[in-house]
Amino acid sequence: MLNASGILGSEADMTHHPALHTRVTEMLGIRYPIIQAGMGFGIATPELVAAVSNAGGLGIFGAMMVPPDEVRAAIASIRTLTDKPFGVNFVIAPPDGHSRNPSSMLDALNRHRSDLGLPASNSLPEIPPSTTAASIDAALEAGARVLSFGLGDPTSYVELAHQRGAKVITMVATVQEAKIAAKAGSDIIAAQGYDAGGHRSNFRYSRLPETPMVGTFALVPQVVDAVDVPVLAAGGVMDGRGLAAALALGAQGVMMGTRFLTAKESGIFPSYRQALFDAVDSSTVVSDAPTGRPARSIRNRLTDDLKSASLPYPAQAIAAIDVYQTARAQDRADLFPLWAGQGLRMAVREQPAAEIVEEIAQQAGEILGALGARH
Ligand SMILES: Cc1cc2nc3c(=O)[nH]c(=O)nc-3n(C[C@H](O)[C@H](O)[C@H](O)COP(=O)(O)O)c2cc1C
Repeated sequence: MLNASGILGSEADMTHHPALHTRVTEMLGIRYPIIQAGMGFGIATPELVAAVSNAGGLGIFGAMMVPPDEVRAAIASIRTLTDKPFGVNFVIAPPDGHSRNPSSMLDALNRHRSDLGLPASNSLPEIPPSTTAASIDAALEAGARVLSFGLGDPTSYVELAHQRGAKVITMVATVQEAKIAAKAGSDIIAAQGYDAGGHRSNFRYSRLPETPMVGTFALVPQVVDAVDVPVLAAGGVMDGRGLAAALALGAQGVMMGTRFLTAKESGIFPSYRQALFDAVDSSTVVSDAPTGRPARSIRNRLTDDLKSASLPYPAQAIAAIDVYQTARAQDRADLFPLWAGQGLRMAVREQPAAEIVEEIAQQAGEILGALGARH
């Protein structure tokens, strides 16, 4: 690790290193090119979003499967906490039609239900009609100025967002998807490497192990070469070293999820937080068992037990929702999907989100300054 403090004079204020001013900071009107990823499941709370935005990054509210009224309420709540720009994230994965064998999954879930004191269930869930389009509309009506999309082709939403004056950040996991996202008019593309926590942001479901698995370091420069719009590096970026490296690869900023999980303001429960601190670099697995789409989480009883079979997305997530909600309420990290990326060992303690943003910007500035000083 580069220890910049020995190289730089202590009076040097590198937080405003010119390289931290990028096309992304300009486009979004923010101070640092640090974007906190929209995280669903109540994790990217209004408090987290506002704290990141107030600190000079861009906070993004996680609105995955959040109905329109709650999206409006969340935006109103963010507005009371910050007057800075912020975004709203939607997961736009289409329902997947692949039929799979649910019987061993239903058996496993019933063992979990029994353990949590829940009644058994052998029926497959009704899939409620998706509220995503209505929630996107609600976010735009409520004045969201940045929309971020994951897990799907954004083409049908970009024009609407632009008509309402909102910028669009689309997350992709391959160069081919980046080209589609750019052609659709996305303003910024987040290139999500295989290192990333949470769902693989491919536009379509593909069965493991055929799911594209391009790591962040390989993906980012290839996406930068393929599109004209600014690119964010997502996946495994945990500190100022990651931000400096992303800029060196040609990205104009970073999108970070896992590091902000351990922020004081994040919505994770205590045993999830502890699992992050106990984990090591090899603790995560990519599995489609928790929701039906491949996603990276800390290996636990849930990923071990559900490994063998699952329903398609989103049926799998809906089938297991009672287990996940109860596990969360009972602070049970063994039966909740503990989304996290491969860089999790770099998050070592709970910190206010503002401190995380400042620390990353400061460290990246120092590194960039030190690298420049070598020439
Ligand atoms: C807990 C968690 C929840 C996530 N939820 C979402 C989500 O709802 N929508 C989305 O587009 N991406 C989601 N992601 C993925 C992030 O957008 C991003 O790609 C990822 O966090 C970057 O890698 P990192 O975790 O190594 O920083 C989630 C990631 C995590 C860790």
